[in-house]
Amino acid sequence: MVHYDPFSAEVMEDPYPVYARLRAEAPVHFLEKYGAWALARFEDVWTLSSDPRLSVAQGTTPSQVLTKVQPVTPMLNLMDPPDHTRLRVKLRGFLLPRAIGALEPMAREIVTQCLDEVLPKGRVDVLGEFGMRLSVRIACRAVGIPLEDAALLASLVNRFFGREPGVDGMTADGLAAAQELIVYFMELVAAREKQGSTVEDPVNLFRHAEVGGRKLAPEEIASHLSMLIIGGSETFPKTLANAMWRLSEHPDQRAWLRANPAAIPDAYRETLRYDMPTQFLCRTVTEPIELHGHRLEPGQGVCFLYASANRDEREFENPDVLDLQRKPARILSFGAGIHSCIGLHVAQMEARVCLEEALRRMPDWEVDWADSERLRTEFVQGFAKLTVAFAPRS
Ligand code: HEM
Repeated sequence: MVHYDPFSAEVMEDPYPVYARLRAEAPVHFLEKYGAWALARFEDVWTLSSDPRLSVAQGTTPSQVLTKVQPVTPMLNLMDPPDHTRLRVKLRGFLLPRAIGALEPMAREIVTQCLDEVLPKGRVDVLGEFGMRLSVRIACRAVGIPLEDAALLASLVNRFFGREPGVDGMTADGLAAAQELIVYFMELVAAREKQGSTVEDPVNLFRHAEVGGRKLAPEEIASHLSMLIIGGSETFPKTLANAMWRLSEHPDQRAWLRANPAAIPDAYRETLRYDMPTQFLCRTVTEPIELHGHRLEPGQGVCFLYASANRDEREFENPDVLDLQRKPARILSFGAGIHSCIGLHVAQMEARVCLEEALRRMPDWEVDWADSERLRTEFVQGFAKLTVAFAPRS
């Protein structure tokens, strides 16, 4: 019998062997300790992502649905239809390819400046110095937050995701950082009120939004905005680090990509499939669901094992092989269905700019393992720090 507990040391060290067993032997697996089901196969996760019998209102992170230490606060991703649908449509307008295309020159300038600084040194921390520097600034600009606060927000977001040995899930410092983010955004919203600001951006969208027939309170607006800055700045650097790591591991594929830069978007997508940082997100059952002979009861949690689904042999040929020329019809790295990521154009633009410039200007990087740190938690797999070294150049 397969034993799967996302918090076990063995799973956190390398979840893929147990994911393979779950897909083969127990695609719908009950986690007794947490009263939740783990779904390991692509098709099940894909289909249930649009199922109205599942709700996000009790949270989606393991700290909300499994250990229940993280409170549920008002955020778009934690709303069910119909309020969710109305708000999502409006917010999505700010994140469509046209709006994001307008941010590309700024992204290229940030990346160029960063490379100008690090090239003579011959090394860079892909997460902190490269990816996060870009993603937090672009998220600030996309959401309507002053750019001078980017460094402060980056440090709050990093603390939010911190983990401590012996503590399952979020730490006290992470929860404190979440609260500091709320205070920051309440002050921002108060300043906007005072100015009588009318600019069209997500900050003002939430200031004027009506949910359930009433306007949002300042702390609710702050909660929505903190989700946007967290989602908008945290995941991208981790995906960039994974992509840079895998490219250095496969120099032949990297050389091919350098010669074929038009393939960068598909290649990045393949690295997202292969190494999805967010291992899983959760839902709560609201009406009974029958699945592969099991009955999921109301009140039970459901974990969408995205990282497992992305390696499902029923969906992908040779799923454990990284193939930058693979063009799969669908992947789950941006979720699916009604809660699929609305920031994907931001992430794709950032990845394209970073990889184009990195491949062009520091072509033969290698990971400096002595100066890198893996991140292995129940929720996120990847790197906390990834230093790459290359021949210094001006
Ligand atoms: C590589 C970077 C990113 C990845 C891999 C990613 C992944 C995801 C995933 C898997 C979901 C589904 C959540 C669920 O299943 O409950 C999601 C939702 C979401 N993402 Fe992203 N995301 C990224 C970047 C961004 C960015 C840059 C933004 C904003 C600027 C953003 C905003 C959102 C929002 C608002 C939702 C919730 C949508 C809804 O509930 O309707 N994401 N993202």
